[in-house]
Amino acid sequence: MHIAVLNGPNLNLLGVREPERYGTATLEVIEARVRERAAALGVEIGWLQSNHEGALVEALHALRGRADGALVNVAAFTHTSLAIRDAVLAVNVPFVEVHLTNIWAREEERRKSLLADLAVGVVAGFGADSYLLGLDAIVGWLRRGRPRAGVAAEA
Ligand code: DQA
Repeated sequence: MHIAVLNGPNLNLLGVREPERYGTATLEVIEARVRERAAALGVEIGWLQSNHEGALVEALHALRGRADGALVNVAAFTHTSLAIRDAVLAVNVPFVEVHLTNIWAREEERRKSLLADLAVGVVAGFGADSYLLGLDAIVGWLRRGRPRAGVAAEA
């Protein structure tokens, strides 16, 4: 099973960027933790960070036929990018939307996600652990045969 992790703008500065909000773990540390968890789960990880909208669109296109699932934290583009939404719709790879912070507890303009309604689910507010929770969630969901939320059989 291959899970792609896509990280958007400014996440390369984690650790120094507003640490009181985003924590002190760098993106490299988060990547190492995700890879360690993936190894324990027996899944492969692809990892990308880009500050560029077009690069993220192209990374999404490249998932077609390659990734079984994805973790997506496209950072500020979550709230603004129709192009990324369209790319997600085009490739049809199941994904969990991930955020370090609880975007619904922040400024008005961050409370809207252009991706959330397309996601299997959303994990937000647990810092670096959001990635690990998201990984567990997408792998479990894929292994259980992609159950629809609210269907009794999944309980
Ligand atoms: C973020 C939340 C976004 O609003 C913000 O622009 C980010 C990070 C998060 O992980 O909490 O850069 O996606």
